[in-house]
Amino acid sequence: MTRQWRSRFPGLMVVAALVLWGTAVAGQSMPKLPDGLLLAKSADSPGQVTFNHFTHVDEANPACTRCHPSLFPILKSSPKPTYTHEVMAKGRLCGACHDGKKAFSLEDDCSGCHVSE
Ligand code: HEC
Ligand code: HEC
Ligand code: HEC
Repeated sequence: MTRQWRSRFPGLMVVAALVLWGTAVAGQSMPKLPDGLLLAKSADSPGQVTFNHFTHVDEANPACTRCHPSLFPILKSSPKPTYTHEVMAKGRLCGACHDGKKAFSLEDDCSGCHVSE
């Protein structure tokens, strides 16, 4: 029964886990989040892009569900998203926020995200 429910609603399980995690840590010290995630670099990329949780998560209000799982699925079974500007320009992935309003735009400071060697 439980197993069946889980396999039918894996997304729901993730949301529930993230909401619980967020609630449990709110106001306390944060658990160790994966940091310095190096995003797969395509051949024509102007430089490595690194995603940092510590610059994106407010300790007082972790709100993991702003990003997980809808923008960025993190189930082992879910396919890794492919980051391209074509996709991000449509307001998906990083482009959901990096639009020049919620956060600096994809069109502005390239070195805000890309670090060339
Ligand atoms: C601003 C968006 C954002 C927020 C908010 C956010 N994350 Fe993430 N998280 C990401 C991105 C982007 C990745 C990398 C996804 C990928 O694999 O491409 C990631 C990856 C992860 C991973 C997988 C790491 C790995 O090694 O593959 C975990 C676990 C995770 N986040 C947990 C959390 C938790 C818990 C919270 C809330 C405290 C949180 N995240 C809040 C954007 C966010
Ligand atoms: C939920 C909204 C949101 C999403 C999604 C998001 N960001 Fe951000 N990001 C922000 C905000 C807000 C800032 C703070 C800077 C600002 O206000 O312009 C920021 C800052 C940054 C910075 C500068 C700080 C640092 O860590 O060096 C980088 C780089 C960055 N984001 C990369 C990314 C990348 C890459 C992705 C996609 C994998 C992403 N962000 C997804 C909201 C977001
Ligand atoms: C908010 C973060 C962010 C900003 C700002 C940003 N990029 Fe990117 N860009 C990415 C991510 C994430 C990828 C995918 C990883 C990779 O290939 O390095 C990427 C990939 C690329 C690629 C290869 C794949 C594709 O979509 O064409 C090029 C070329 C590129 N960026 C150019 C730029 C230029 C030029 C600027 C400045 C005008 C810029 N980027 C600003 C996040 C950003």
